[in-house]
Amino acid sequence: MNRRGITALENTTFEDLEQLKTTKNELTRFMMTYKFAIDEVNTKLNILKEEFQYIHDYNPIEHSISRVKSPESILKKAYRKNCGLSLAAIKENIQDIAGIRITCSFISDIYKVSEMITKQRDITVIERKDYIQNPKPNGYQSLHLIIKIPVFMSDRVEHTFVEIQIRTIAMDFWASLEHKIYYKFNKEVPERITRELKEAAVSATELDKKMERLHEEVKVIKNMENEEQQHVSDSPMNGEIRQLIGLLK
Ligand code: GTP
Ligand code: MG
Repeated sequence: MNRRGITALENTTFEDLEQLKTTKNELTRFMMTYKFAIDEVNTKLNILKEEFQYIHDYNPIEHSISRVKSPESILKKAYRKNCGLSLAAIKENIQDIAGIRITCSFISDIYKVSEMITKQRDITVIERKDYIQNPKPNGYQSLHLIIKIPVFMSDRVEHTFVEIQIRTIAMDFWASLEHKIYYKFNKEVPERITRELKEAAVSATELDKKMERLHEEVKVIKNMENEEQQHVSDSPMNGEIRQLIGLLK
């Protein structure tokens, strides 16, 4: 430690240290709230996944990832937004400190998952941006939700913002590559690459639409098969027919 540091420490009073401890505790509890909010939403997602799998024999959520924004990124964003640096100002103005990204197999699943989340009584939808219906000019697609969820702490309830991004695997593939390219070129992407990225986004949409159509077709075939099976087991000769089917297998 240099001389200035030592002098600063020598001049530190007991009150200063107490203040520092209080600030550190406040900050830790502030950050913890966002982790708890993510835990709450993740529990909801796990319930939806398990129950949906049980009822429909299929899971609309491929996978999900979550993160709490780093204190450094929070401060940078607060500075950029010019909203003040107090915890109260940050809590109110930065709505993506807690973030969850859900990847679904099909576009229709995105809307199913979104509806299942947003209709829950303890969740308030603050904002919904549908970049699937209205893609960004660069081709970016996803459904964005800002929700508020209560987090029950030992002495209070914190109504906490969580940003949820829901997208297909193809949309996620595109977005992660675009993100890498954007930073590789230090946010100044050459025109040709921007154009090709846009074309890639169109291809990703076509792929998503094709997969959705196939998914629908498979569903229809599966339903027909189920109906046929039902018909066979309803008939009076079902014992004999079942035996026959068994033999044919
Ligand atoms: P900020 O919250 O300040 O970022 O602005 P905003 O609320 O207008 O942003 P928006 O809701 O449109 O997007 C928020 C997040 O979505 C970003 O932090 C990214 O994770 C993602 N996102 C938005 N646009 C793009 C994009 O063009 N490319 C990629 N790869 N991700 C994007
Ligand atoms: Mg945002």
